[in-house]
Amino acid sequence: MKRRIGDVVMLILIVAGVVAAALAVVLTVSVTNAQQDTKNDPKYATMDKGPASIDVSKYPSDQQTNYKVFASRCAKCHTLARPINSSFALSDEWERYIKRMMRKPGSGITSEDGKKIFEFLKYDSQTRKKALYEKKLKEAESGKKGS
Ligand code: HEC
Repeated sequence: MKRRIGDVVMLILIVAGVVAAALAVVLTVSVTNAQQDTKNDPKYATMDKGPASIDVSKYPSDQQTNYKVFASRCAKCHTLARPINSSFALSDEWERYIKRMMRKPGSGITSEDGKKIFEFLKYDSQTRKKALYEKKLKEAESGKKGS
């Protein structure tokens, strides 16, 4: 009888060990997947190959400060080229996407950083990407009228 209890305890310990190991594997895989770079996706490859910095020397000084936050926070999982060459231009596109990036595991982006990055990308879209910004704005407005 004593031996049986010993065996049962042993069995429970083994099962618990296996379950813990399996859980650890599942967690590691899901975190890695979430952070995995999407470089090989052709859509992202085009963006990633473009310029990886913006000449902000003519930007207002507060935007130059915001640029530093953007450059340090948004190049952790992919290069800075990805957001720089993105076709996002409208403020709500950036707001939505910055929030999405902030929610990714291990992003390390605080909401204070998020705001500065948003201010920067909003300004940058309306200067460097002015033509695209105006085109998208027009489309968004006519879309609203049409519906
Ligand atoms: C924790 C990792 C991580 C961080 C930090 C991160 N990104 Fe990303 N980003 C991704 C992943 C993964 C993708 C692939 C698409 C997806 O999952 O949304 C991506 C895709 C993108 C895209 C392409 C979207 C598209 O579909 O066209 C843009 C633009 C982008 N990120 C901007 C940013 C900006 C701006 C920041 C800083 C606020 C940032 N990223 C920080 C992981 C990250």
